Amino acid sequence: MSVTSTARARAALAATAALAVGGLLLACVSSQAGAASTGLKTLAEAKGKYIGTELTGNMVYNSTVTSLAAGQFDMVTPGNEMKWDTTEPSNGSYNFGPGDTIVSFAQSHNMRVRGHNLVWHSQLPGWVNGVPRNQVQGVMESHITAEVSHYKGKIYAWDVINEPFNEDGSLRQDAFYNAMGSGYLADAIRTAHAADPSAVLYINDYNIEGENAKSNALYSLAQSMLAQGVPLGGIGLEGHFIVGQVPSSMLANMQRFAALGLDVAVTELDDRVQLPASSGSLQQQATDYATVINDCLAVTRCPGVSQWGVGDADSWIPGTFPGQGAATMYDNNYQPKPAYNSTATALGGSTTTTTTTTTTTTTTTSSPPPNSTCTVTDSVNAWNTGLTENITIVNTGTGPVNGWSLAFTLAGGQTITSAWNAAISPGSGQVTAKNVSYNGSVPPGGSVSFGFQANHTGDTSAPTAFTLNGTRCATG
Ligand code: XIL
Repeated sequence: MSVTSTARARAALAATAALAVGGLLLACVSSQAGAASTGLKTLAEAKGKYIGTELTGNMVYNSTVTSLAAGQFDMVTPGNEMKWDTTEPSNGSYNFGPGDTIVSFAQSHNMRVRGHNLVWHSQLPGWVNGVPRNQVQGVMESHITAEVSHYKGKIYAWDVINEPFNEDGSLRQDAFYNAMGSGYLADAIRTAHAADPSAVLYINDYNIEGENAKSNALYSLAQSMLAQGVPLGGIGLEGHFIVGQVPSSMLANMQRFAALGLDVAVTELDDRVQLPASSGSLQQQATDYATVINDCLAVTRCPGVSQWGVGDADSWIPGTFPGQGAATMYDNNYQPKPAYNSTATALGGSTTTTTTTTTTTTTTTSSPPPNSTCTVTDSVNAWNTGLTENITIVNTGTGPVNGWSLAFTLAGGQTITSAWNAAISPGSGQVTAKNVSYNGSVPPGGSVSFGFQANHTGDTSAPTAFTLNGTRCATG
């Protein structure tokens, strides 16, 4: 179990000691255990696995999201950009621009891509349902060939078929089944293979994580496909869980597919809770995430686990399951949740007991420096070799701030590995955080928050000497 402690470090006051008059110093020593701050992908790679994330829409334009995506994950799944309604909105007219954007992002950050998806009853443009039955096969094959060829060599694995089963194990009566019967499945896989023989070709579905009627039907289908030489390469367990309900038969289920000679990946992991999330449900979520990671680690043919989204703020869950959410490893402000720590720990992040000194200073009287127009508050969450820091700047001046640049000094040994709501450089020593596109304006009395994750070598103090646009800030 890993726990982080909050240290309200007020080291800034040491640097500006003249500010504090009659300060009250509280100090306590706490024991804690923490997971390593090493990015999840480094931990996963050391175990021979990948750890992925879904990106969609404007997530690739949000620096908070992209720095976490690139810093923590090494596999990307486009959430919507490779689906039929985007890629072939009308017959024979293709649009790969949105998917290309995500592939470029992944490639420029050394991340691989899971292509998602080629044949699915949902997010299927209306024109496909209007195609005469005797032409559906040609339409489906053309779609697969065009898309897989476009991305040839850039896709690690394709979800060729998405969600083909009903809960009872029968096949969905969608446009493809209605036109071709169950033969559409093998035909789709063979067509994709012809266009890119290197991609691993998957059938992906939900509620097939444990052993049940649906996964049994998929198992029989996979067996018969392999017997016929269909180039099926993997089974995707989506992993959209309800907290506390990861099936106990998940490991055995993964093992039986692996024993067929198939890869078996967790492709869309999230774990939803009733909102507002209680600390108990987030602890259970941490347990669930660790269970999923451990199941993958226990199966050689499990290449990795992908989460659906980076943080709760970009998760599809609240929009689809009203009243539920908080389903990912990062909260709405992209702060790591207990599930992040349990994932890191399951992936082999060191869990050591360390002793941290927490110092709290309450200033009863303070004199802000002359011309001060800002107050900065900060909080640190530290574990054995890593920390996250949240900083809030309050505009205490009478005029608006239009574009901000906050300079400060990091404690020795701290190196920033990712940041949100600000662009920070360099990564250590004297650093400057600048606003990003959406948070540059701070009205009088208003505030703005940003944060970062850093490695440390023992000194978990908060930064000192905050200067906003050249003016020293008070610390609150
Ligand atoms: C979801 C996306 O996250 C949403 O943005 C979209 O509105 C609907 O689809 N199973 C899948 C994914 O295979 O493609 C779905 O993604 C989630 C369920």
